[in-house]
Amino acid sequence: MLRLSLLSLLCVSSFAFAADDPKTAARLATFTKDIKPVLDKSCVSCHGKDGKKPKGGFNATTLEGIEKGGKEEGKGITWGDSEKSSLYRLSYLGATARNEDMAMPPKKDKNHEPLTADQLAKLKAWIEAK
Ligand code: HEC
Repeated sequence: MLRLSLLSLLCVSSFAFAADDPKTAARLATFTKDIKPVLDKSCVSCHGKDGKKPKGGFNATTLEGIEKGGKEEGKGITWGDSEKSSLYRLSYLGATARNEDMAMPPKKDKNHEPLTADQLAKLKAWIEAK
């Protein structure tokens, strides 16, 4: 019984959230316009492209998968805090500390360049937008 009412509560609240939260809408708009193209180019070949099993359990093809994050590095996005967002943290390592194990894209991958300073700044601004 408790489980059932919790479940219905969840359904109702997530519906309200999806329906008319302007912040959610703005996040999705920026994701589609500015963020997804970057991830499509630099990350998805290892993180979920064509339904392939994503490396580290991190699926970068949908906002939902990105928010959730992978197996070991915590949430992909903690809104308001880029340091607690593995998406940003590991991309930043990728650009600044290439020898770190978790630098993304990995150093040994010769097909992808690290994100540029401009791309990182956009990612951070998106995660931390008020
Ligand atoms: C050449 C393949 C490749 C590319 C390209 C790549 N990654 Fe990864 N990624 C991996 C592998 C392999 C792992 C698992 C590493 C491990 O667990 O040691 C991983 C793990 C991760 C994780 C952590 C998952 C966890 O355990 O929580 C995140 C987050 C991540 N990658 C983000 C990115 C982002 C963002 C990009 C693009 C900027 C990217 N990756 C590009 C191969 C790749």
